[in-house]
Amino acid sequence: MMKIAIDGPAGAGKSTVAKTLSQLMSYIYIDTGAMYRSLTWKALQTGTNLDDEKALYELATNTNIHFQKDNSQQKVFCDSFDVSEEIRSPQVSSYVSKLASYPSIRQLMVQRQQEMACNHSVVMDGRDIGECVLPDADFKFFLTASIAERARRRLAEMKSQGYEQQLEAIRDEIIKRDEDDARREVGALKVLPDSIVIDTSNMTIEQVVEKILAIIRED
Ligand code: DC
Repeated sequence: MMKIAIDGPAGAGKSTVAKTLSQLMSYIYIDTGAMYRSLTWKALQTGTNLDDEKALYELATNTNIHFQKDNSQQKVFCDSFDVSEEIRSPQVSSYVSKLASYPSIRQLMVQRQQEMACNHSVVMDGRDIGECVLPDADFKFFLTASIAERARRRLAEMKSQGYEQQLEAIRDEIIKRDEDDARREVGALKVLPDSIVIDTSNMTIEQVVEKILAIIRED
């Protein structure tokens, strides 16, 4: 069973690369950011106080988040709702780091992610995959890119989903989210001693995928 961890900051191309790799290799793809986003979406829907870790943990224990293949698309379900699109909204994006900073929530999510990966070959992307979720992963990739390039990619992604946003606002949000993700007590975003770092700033998705495949095959 092969386990591939892909970590890195927002907009580094992780999810597109992870999705493509999983398709090429016929592995399961687990987008862990979508899990934190789904819980944030539900907290907003139910009016749960985002400053109340205990209430959020309670909510999390009563929330089922799962992935479902729909042709070539992978859909995200929160309980019975297809939240694939709504979890990408600017509102969810602006609150998700806060929710992801709570240790009890992270512990629960990590446990669920490990259960999902158990007995399967997987490509999993997030921030703490190599460190916490799959510490024994066969490969730990850390994708990064310049802030300017990541903001540009996020803007294009948001536009394609019908959200009108300014590049400046996206850039500021990315910088803030990077700081929050890197600063938290547990599961912080960081390069590990065994991470393979790839700067994707001047690379296409295909080039990144090719590079990762070459590294995997070389091994
Ligand atoms: O990858 P993304 O932008 O969809 O992630 C959304 C947020 O979730 C991000 O700000 C950090 C958090 N996250 C996390 O803390 N741990 C993970 N394994 C994945 C995401």
